[in-house]
Amino acid sequence: MEEQGQRRRRVVLVPSPHQGHINPMLQLGTILHSKGFSITVVHTQFNSPNPSNHPEFEFQSIPDGLMDVNISARNLVDSILLLNENCREPFRNWLVQMIKEQQPGDEIVCIIYDEVMYFAEASASQLNVQSIILRTSGAVTVVARLVLFQLKEEGYNPLKESYVQLINNAYSARTSSAVISNTIYCLEESVLSQLQQYFKVPNFPIGPLHKFAPSSNGSLLKEDTSCISWLNNQSPKSVIYVSLGSVASMDKKELEEMAWGLVNSKQPFLWVIRPRTNNAPEGIELLPKVLAEDVQENGYIVKWAPQKEVLSHVAVGGFWSHCGWNSTLESICEGVPMICMPFFEDQKVNARYLSHVWGVGLELEHELERGAVEKAVRKLTVDKEGEFLRQRAAQLKEEVELSTRKGGFSYNSLNELLDLINKF
Ligand code: UDX
Repeated sequence: MEEQGQRRRRVVLVPSPHQGHINPMLQLGTILHSKGFSITVVHTQFNSPNPSNHPEFEFQSIPDGLMDVNISARNLVDSILLLNENCREPFRNWLVQMIKEQQPGDEIVCIIYDEVMYFAEASASQLNVQSIILRTSGAVTVVARLVLFQLKEEGYNPLKESYVQLINNAYSARTSSAVISNTIYCLEESVLSQLQQYFKVPNFPIGPLHKFAPSSNGSLLKEDTSCISWLNNQSPKSVIYVSLGSVASMDKKELEEMAWGLVNSKQPFLWVIRPRTNNAPEGIELLPKVLAEDVQENGYIVKWAPQKEVLSHVAVGGFWSHCGWNSTLESICEGVPMICMPFFEDQKVNARYLSHVWGVGLELEHELERGAVEKAVRKLTVDKEGEFLRQRAAQLKEEVELSTRKGGFSYNSLNELLDLINKF
């Protein structure tokens, strides 16, 4: 009989096809691969990850039927519902085939799927394969969701019907053995215990995943590394890094206020302006000529940055962010205080935590206006008034660092997770 240690057992990963979800899933894959598992990533055609970034994994694409759907922040939930419908059968067929063809020693030990990709759970349970949920957002989002559902029961209507349907579909028939959360105990201690009660299966908070898997790269867009040379020429902690993640977008007026505020702050800035999908004029082309010139003189613009490298650069003193969960964790891990400008979903509760609970963020409230932007940028990076934010960010960085060291909470939790998977 084969020795347990020599077996290359296979874990199947099913990420949700959005940047903020692909990154943590591939990071988890990198960790599991380093622990001796083979990895197969089953992904949609839409936003498919780049296999050349992870030659150690196998990739399997399944039809998602989203070709003709114009996916934007507005129809995100609808597209996920559709995708679950469309992927259910192809995934099941693929899994049946895999199980039929698997060789001794290369069996599928379990399927780890993003919590919104519930079609994977259905197939796993029908075919008696173990499954685990990966939550890529903060634990607090579960609690926030429960509150919103409570309000709905009380007759208020804070939720769109499609969102209610998504949550009902995803949580009505939980058969998975465990939950993995990309969060850190010291950040979310109080809500993690509520999460435990809610899921009723072991929950493993093993974040920040990117710190356990620094080599993992899940970027869907090409990173422009020229900004690192530009950062090399800036003074320590002087630069404000501006990025609103992979989904949120600005209109012309907001972009202009943002640009004026940045220029007037007199601080250097590195600004990510993503390309638009529909050939419309983009970013800097939307600004009046004089302002565009000022922007180019004082700042550096890229379409996509190597964000983790940027945040760890000595020249970066602040991060103006939409507060997606990955950006939130990445900034906290590098001790970079934040200007919080959330757009939708969990971003709003993340922004509240950054400003009111962890004390490392400054919320930009009300309509975006150049004077407020200028003030916030200076407060975050240079003004004395913002010293407490900078100090608190440095302190929190130290606290979260402890969690990934030997004996730290996430370190231990990861080992417990591996023990569980090894018992499957
Ligand atoms: C989406 C949702 O908007 C968010 O609310 C949810 O928490 C996760 O999914 P997204 O907009 O993709 O998030 O933001 P975020 O979670 O911050 O993830 C973006 C990822 O892209 C980060 O890992 C960041 O490092 C990376 N990134 C971003 C780059 O590598 N380069 C960039 O220029 C911008």
